[in-house]
Amino acid sequence: MKNLKKIFAGLFLLTACMFISQSAFAQKPDGKPWPAPASAASKKMPASAKAADGKDLYAQHCKSCHGAKGKGDGSKAEKIDISCNDFSSAKFQGQTDGEIFWKTTEGRKPMPSYKEKMSDAERWAVVAYLRTLK
Ligand code: HEC
Repeated sequence: MKNLKKIFAGLFLLTACMFISQSAFAQKPDGKPWPAPASAASKKMPASAKAADGKDLYAQHCKSCHGAKGKGDGSKAEKIDISCNDFSSAKFQGQTDGEIFWKTTEGRKPMPSYKEKMSDAERWAVVAYLRTLK
């Protein structure tokens, strides 16, 4: 009888561990490489772009996937099978402003394009805001 209890306790722990490692700790795979064209990557951020203006736009358009701090842990991220990437990482921040602006403009499924949803000035303001997440 005692042994049976131990076996059940063991099985329970095992399933619990499997469940936890699948949900909370499993890292989603990165998407395929997504290089911006050289002409886009070299674009400079206009001096008028202000992070303060990008903050609300980020909350409105991006936070649901990318998360409050850009960690890629927004509420919609759970349902996406690739990583939304970590905006605070050196890898992300190592890109040029032009590259980040281009990706925000174009999008790539499942990420939407923001070409029509925001003006150039608004997208630059969001890029300025993303720089504050490092
Ligand atoms: C529906 C979810 C979703 C929304 C909303 C969303 N994104 Fe994304 N974003 C993603 C996913 C998923 C990726 C990874 C795409 C890939 O690797 O193909 C991504 C990638 C990016 C990248 C490239 C990351 C890198 O490491 O180079 C940038 C920049 C970006 N998003 C900016 C934004 C901005 C700015 C907004 C809001 C204006 C936004 N995203 C809204 C899902 C989303």
